[in-house]
Amino acid sequence: MEYRKLGNLDVSVIGLGTLRSFDVTEPADLEPRRQIIDNCLAHGINFIDSAAMYGASEKAVGITTEGRRDRFYLATKVRIEGKEAGKRQIAESFANFNTDYIDLLQIHNMIDWQTHLPTLERLKAEGKVGMIGVTAMVNDAYPGVMDVMRSGRIDTVQVPYNVVQREVEAELLPLAHELGIGVMVMEPLKKGRYVKELKGEPDLTPLKGFGVKTWAQALLSWVVSDPRVSITIPATSRPERITENALSGALETMPQELRDFVREETVRLL
Ligand SMILES: NC(=O)c1ccc[n+]([C@@H]2O[C@H](COP(=O)([O-])OP(=O)(O)OC[C@H]3O[C@@H](n4cnc5c(N)ncnc54)[C@H](OP(=O)(O)O)[C@@H]3O)[C@@H](O)[C@H]2O)c1
Repeated sequence: MEYRKLGNLDVSVIGLGTLRSFDVTEPADLEPRRQIIDNCLAHGINFIDSAAMYGASEKAVGITTEGRRDRFYLATKVRIEGKEAGKRQIAESFANFNTDYIDLLQIHNMIDWQTHLPTLERLKAEGKVGMIGVTAMVNDAYPGVMDVMRSGRIDTVQVPYNVVQREVEAELLPLAHELGIGVMVMEPLKKGRYVKELKGEPDLTPLKGFGVKTWAQALLSWVVSDPRVSITIPATSRPERITENALSGALETMPQELRDFVREETVRLL
């Protein structure tokens, strides 16, 4: 597994997202998630991203990382209007994770960010939060995100970046690189669509020599082969996929001609 700087942390380039996949409460559903966490440890994945708005996900992360909290960096997000409501939601995140320290607290989709930023800055100054970040999903939000990046008040940004959605290449990634702001990539597989919903089998032949054995690995390797990316966080509900996805974090940088091939092959099959 390759490790890169995300702000001041050394994170595995492949992390773990938990949207939908960790929104579970039943013991029978928690067991495979515990195996996902086991497999993360076995393959060097050391970063988990969640959010207050992901149903039971934060709590499931807290339960399945119990006794091994110190082996992971935990990230979550505040998403609510208002100062006091934000503080309450953040307090719940600490309780759900069952921790007194959160490595990264992000403002989800920049919602009410002017209100939450001072709260997060205070928590960081008190040593309860390690880093501050923002997330954004739509192009219209990027100018605002870049203004906050330039203000020097945040350590990380989380944005979509994959073979099809490449808008961040123009300005946001160069700016993050210039300012030394960590970049976390959401939706590397476009919620799984670029693997599960293709209209045919992608041709893996040109990628064999590179070490890629599955299309998910090709897509993940495509993302992390951009050196401006610190980490990507594919989500899964299936423990065996951790082994598959983690391998993409151990490959060399994908040459540009192979990156072009992976993009063209995905577009051809969409
Ligand atoms: N606004 C925001 O801040 C925001 C928005 C979206 C996402 N995020 C974060 O980014 C993370 C990743 O995004 P995402 O979960 O929406 O999408 P994603 O990671 O692109 O895709 C997840 C889907 O891909 C499937 N998958 C994973 N590995 C696979 C493999 N090797 N082969 C085939 N299918 C595979 C999973 O299905 P199985 O369960 O069947 O494996 C899951 O349904 C989220 O979990 C969340 O933490 C943040």
